[in-house]
Amino acid sequence: MRDPQDTPLPSSFWTLSRILNLSRTALLVLASAWLVQLSFSPKAAYLVSNVRNLYRPIQYHGAAITADFFEGWYFKMVKTGKTKDDPIQSMAIIPGIHHPSPDNSDQGHAFVIVVGLPGPESAAYFRFPISDFTDLRESTQGDSNKGAFKVQIGNSFFSHDELVLNLPANRFDRVPARELEEFYTEASRQYEVQRRKTNSSTLSDNQDYFRQLFPSADTLTEAETHGPFAVRGHFLFPASSHTPLPTSRWTPSIMGITAYLPFLECNHGVASLHHTISKGHLVALRGDNEVLGEAKFDGGVGYIEKDWGVNFPSTWVWAQANMFDTAPGSSLMISVASIPVLGPDFSDWVAANVPFLSRFTNVPGRLVIFYHAATKTLYNFSSYVFSARAKSLRTSLDIEGGTQTFSFMATTGDPNNPKETIALQVNVTREIGTGVPLRSPSRVKGRMFSGVEEAVVATTDLKLWRVGSGEVIVEDQSLGSGLEVVGDIAWLEAHINH
Ligand SMILES: *[C@@H]1O[C@H](CO)[C@@H](O)[C@H](O)[C@H]1NC(C)=O
Ligand SMILES: *[C@@H]1O[C@H](CO)[C@@H](O)[C@H](O)[C@H]1NC(C)=O
Ligand SMILES: *[C@@H]1O[C@H](CO)[C@@H](O)[C@H](O)[C@H]1NC(C)=O
Repeated sequence: MRDPQDTPLPSSFWTLSRILNLSRTALLVLASAWLVQLSFSPKAAYLVSNVRNLYRPIQYHGAAITADFFEGWYFKMVKTGKTKDDPIQSMAIIPGIHHPSPDNSDQGHAFVIVVGLPGPESAAYFRFPISDFTDLRESTQGDSNKGAFKVQIGNSFFSHDELVLNLPANRFDRVPARELEEFYTEASRQYEVQRRKTNSSTLSDNQDYFRQLFPSADTLTEAETHGPFAVRGHFLFPASSHTPLPTSRWTPSIMGITAYLPFLECNHGVASLHHTISKGHLVALRGDNEVLGEAKFDGGVGYIEKDWGVNFPSTWVWAQANMFDTAPGSSLMISVASIPVLGPDFSDWVAANVPFLSRFTNVPGRLVIFYHAATKTLYNFSSYVFSARAKSLRTSLDIEGGTQTFSFMATTGDPNNPKETIALQVNVTREIGTGVPLRSPSRVKGRMFSGVEEAVVATTDLKLWRVGSGEVIVEDQSLGSGLEVVGDIAWLEAHINH
């Protein structure tokens, strides 16, 4: 490295560094002005709610919020078959609420999504009026779970240790053909980027490929679609078997110190890294008693996380696994996303008015943890951890093999030995087409939009080792993993694999 004291730097260097400094100052001034006006705006309810619930991310945050808000809980269940050869069952149940921006307020609704259904259709979306969503937190104040999370949607109940599903056929909402067309466009654009990197053979007509994988109901015959159906179920996962995240003053939740930023676009919470399902039963029904499919999860394992905020990020990769063979009880969560650091409105404003500052307002951020059950150690590879680094992130497609793979590597300090570094490497693979188009709140569309292919049947290969000594801590596989790859992944890859 040269020393500026004895070697004069070219004047272009000084110009550049002056511009960067000025940009940073300009950004700070803009941000302060933005924050001051924010505290007087209708968005204040969102800020207040985030601050109030800082240590209770699992709680409903939307009590006083009527626009630009969503919240959704993700309950995952996995169960292996009786023998090694029986297929693994996995399912996600996602209750939530969406209040779009005031221009689209008629689109506001509560929902329950079920992914991984037994029977003819693997996913279902149940749509309810906002008035059918009730926060029952107050009613739990009296019992031993004082203030515990509990919401009601229609006649279904969702809490930290029990789900009661009563989803009637008249709330069944099939994704309309025009929304699926948007999904084909998004998915084919997304796969094309991954395909180009790996030189797989071309998808001849990209969108048709996705039309066949995820057909819309209008293109199916009478026998193939079963029309609207109902879902009923009951799941119990006692709080005593939960594995909550350890927290502290500076890391009140999985978001670490960034939990103190109340204006973020999307917030993440992990309620239980791993637990056992003592009772789990679900049926898909047509009419009153024609059983279309049935699943039992007694003795399976579960995981609970959630998101809330203004809307989902524009780009992200998310993977989750907690069905490890030799490391039972262990749990992995990876979420890498584009983060508008000072909130989405500010980033949009900067992009529109001072575009050259955009690279400071939109950055990649990651929440990555692996909980090792045998040693009760949480390895934290998240952006806010000082010693943690992301080493590589790649998604790739193998059209011939029919698979999509997400590979990720990161390092962090060893919580048990300050001199040691821990490395994590994972490959999460799913068969193309085993996901389902999932609706999520989209900023660009201003409403729920099927931009996400949600899979609950991916396979995770994981290796965790000590870099200095070379000692392998865990080398294992988890079936029934969750995987989502959404938006401009090339942007994420470019930022992480310099
Ligand atoms: C893909 O093909 C191009 C041209 O045939 C070649 O230059 C490139 O190295 C290949 N990339 C990979 C990842 O195989
Ligand atoms: C990693 O995250 C967990 C859970 O939020 C937290 O308890 C822990 O302190 C974090 N580790 C570091 C080094 O910040
Ligand atoms: C992930 O895949 C890469 C490339 O195929 C391989 O080198 C690596 O060992 C795999 N990692 C695990 C944990 O299986």
